[in-house]
Amino acid sequence: MSDDGITSAKCRILEILSDLDGTDLASIEKWICSQSYKKDLKTKKELQNSQKFLKKIGESLKKLVPFEAEMPTETIVPPAAGDQADCNKHNTYHIDEFLYDEDQVEVLVNKGKVKRNFCLDCNSRNIEKLTFISHSMSRQALQYIFKVLLPNDLESKELMDVGSRLGAVLYGAYYFSNVSKIVGVEINKECCEVQKRIINQYSMDVNRIKIIHSDVMDITDIVECTDIFIINVLDFFVDVEKHKKMWYFFRKHIKQGSYLVTNRSMAETLNGLNIFEEFMDWLTICKPYQLENEIFFDVEDCSELYLYTINKK
Ligand SMILES: C[S@@+](CC[C@H](N)C(=O)[O-])C[C@H]1O[C@@H](n2cnc3c(N)ncnc32)[C@H](O)[C@@H]1O
Repeated sequence: MSDDGITSAKCRILEILSDLDGTDLASIEKWICSQSYKKDLKTKKELQNSQKFLKKIGESLKKLVPFEAEMPTETIVPPAAGDQADCNKHNTYHIDEFLYDEDQVEVLVNKGKVKRNFCLDCNSRNIEKLTFISHSMSRQALQYIFKVLLPNDLESKELMDVGSRLGAVLYGAYYFSNVSKIVGVEINKECCEVQKRIINQYSMDVNRIKIIHSDVMDITDIVECTDIFIINVLDFFVDVEKHKKMWYFFRKHIKQGSYLVTNRSMAETLNGLNIFEEFMDWLTICKPYQLENEIFFDVEDCSELYLYTINKK
């Protein structure tokens, strides 16, 4: 680092420290002088490295899928029930969060490739903000799932992403955790092909990561052996009847003690389908296992991620 770089780093550190009172400052000084600071710095760098890998995969995916990241063979329909029932093709825009983080979206907006607003009546200034939705989880959400929510050691565990789409969750599990088996089940064949190409391109260990082209309800035996389920909101992909069927299927086949990670509370999902009361005893919400890791990144946007354990069938 040049002298200018060091001056600028010192300036930024002083800016932060100047906001602290005496007790907090003493605690930070103690941390910086300790071994644990060195260990934390090493972890931070490892996380940054994994993030770089995921970002690179995102860049490769951009070359394999259309800009909107929706496949020609897909029929994606705004939901008729639940908290996203007000979405329609005029007020909603899909931008895949795994492919484009907030900074990248800002670049697209500045270039005019993505609009943030739509006009309520043409040629007027009477505009409304578009609702941005993403069908994939962001890199930040994946980091939170594997580095804060779930336990640190997943070596003996099998994980399934239900509806693995472009594979974001699978790559997150691969680079952020030591989970021994990672299964992506996806009903759309084109999406399966894209995931397989990425696994191949990045020489991932195919004994550890696997894609199954199927309806999840047709692979009961694998569901029954799985320890960790990740389920991103499915509303845009299944109608209300199928959605309900899927939750009855999960209640019947997910084994007791398994973990379930969702990006909307189960109360909200099941209430939207009018079946919440039937499921109340099935789940228990858990506190994050690795809260100490919250020092490594900004977790502000991760409040919609939930961890549950399955109580019984
Ligand atoms: C919201 S996307 C989730 C993407 C991915 N899990 C993530 O979080 O990045 C939901 C995916 O589920 C798939 N899907 C819907 N119903 C399914 C089913 N019954 N079995 C397998 N996949 C399904 C859809 O094709 C879609 O790609």
